[in-house]
Amino acid sequence: MKLVILGGGGFRVPLVYRALLADRSPGRVTEVVLHDLDASRLAAVCGVLAELAADVSDAPTVTASTDLDEALRGADFVFSAIRVGGLGGRAADESVAAGCGVLGQETVGAGGVAYGLRTVPVALDIARRISVHAPDAWVINFTNPAGMVTEAMTAHLGDRVIGICDSPVGLGKRVARAAGVEVADAWLDYAGLNHLGWLRGVHVRGHDVLPDLLADAERLESFEEGKLFGAEWLRSLGAIPNEYLHYYYFTREAVASGASRGAFLLDQQKRFYDAPSLESWERTRLEREQTYMAETRDEERDADDLDGGGYDQVALELMHAIASDKRATLILNVPNRTTLTCLDVDAVVEVPCLVDANGARPVAVSQVPDEGVGLVTSLKVVERATIKAAISGERAHAVKALALHPLVDSVAVARKIVDTHPLLFGGDARRGTA
Ligand code: G6P
Ligand code: MN
Repeated sequence: MKLVILGGGGFRVPLVYRALLADRSPGRVTEVVLHDLDASRLAAVCGVLAELAADVSDAPTVTASTDLDEALRGADFVFSAIRVGGLGGRAADESVAAGCGVLGQETVGAGGVAYGLRTVPVALDIARRISVHAPDAWVINFTNPAGMVTEAMTAHLGDRVIGICDSPVGLGKRVARAAGVEVADAWLDYAGLNHLGWLRGVHVRGHDVLPDLLADAERLESFEEGKLFGAEWLRSLGAIPNEYLHYYYFTREAVASGASRGAFLLDQQKRFYDAPSLESWERTRLEREQTYMAETRDEERDADDLDGGGYDQVALELMHAIASDKRATLILNVPNRTTLTCLDVDAVVEVPCLVDANGARPVAVSQVPDEGVGLVTSLKVVERATIKAAISGERAHAVKALALHPLVDSVAVARKIVDTHPLLFGGDARRGTA
């Protein structure tokens, strides 16, 4: 079983490899090929993987390549986890938007649109090349903005591309723990788009445990989302929103905090890539997790909250279900078909899916809550306007995509972002490394 990781020099790759090392099931991955445009990052990560594999017999083999077509040949699974423009690009997305007085964030608001404009052309090229060199591969897309990028890639890959994010499963785990139930026993009634979804029910043996949790302020505010949104607002919604909804419900406070996570991570990760080793990777990873979404909180994260979805675990579960035809239910990004009535059939949505050797099929859920329908439909329009702008390379289309975003409050601001962003039309929209 051959797994190709695009963005193979990325910081989270050792997490995925560590999960593969622990996997003893039949049909597990035996061969890993890392692809990246940056040979020195590839070498840094390969060194860490070799340290991880040191004491493991029959560890999956690891090879690295900077040639995409060569890497793809014979792939059973392709993970796409690229960051076009690197963390420097993310820092620019965040700081240009913040400098214009709007939210500066990796995937939400103007930052997410800029990131999408830069990423979609590269993702489309990758999708095209997979369809030629590895037409039978299943493609697991982690690349952000994950919903938009997955939707763009379906043009070449159809149902063979499946988008994933660790935030819904992290939310499910935290809510289950607070409600005193096992997440494995629970049906998570979750609906929305990537980084824009709501958990509307947690059903265990035919009983929804969410209403009791909503009634108990102390338990409700004992975990990440409860602290972020507060018990009163969660009760008003009657649901638990994905943590990224914080940027929509508390926009003013998030804009005021003005922190650029990209700039912080650029500096932090440089320390690892300058002197790579397993020890420095571990240290850097823990520090990064501890500070995740720190700008929105006064206190440090609880240890329990740090146990998020498990980026690596979600990916592995998805591969298992497909490779060994063992049916699993996972929250994934797939074409809507008729699941969410507020969106058309081709819109990529984030909902529970049944996964087996036939891929992932969305199942019926309780729909997006009424008060979220406006947001979800607006954001789908923004995603599609961004894809169109990325393909056309036209400045007016990029301005339109930005200006339509509910967190960009003026067309003049959208124009300013397009004209001053160093990696958009103010610079070179197509530059950057994957
Ligand atoms: C979560 C999200 C990802 C996002 C990441 C940012 O894992 O699901 O989509 O990229 O957080 O974390 P970072 O440490 O890079 O700020
Ligand atoms: Mn995500």
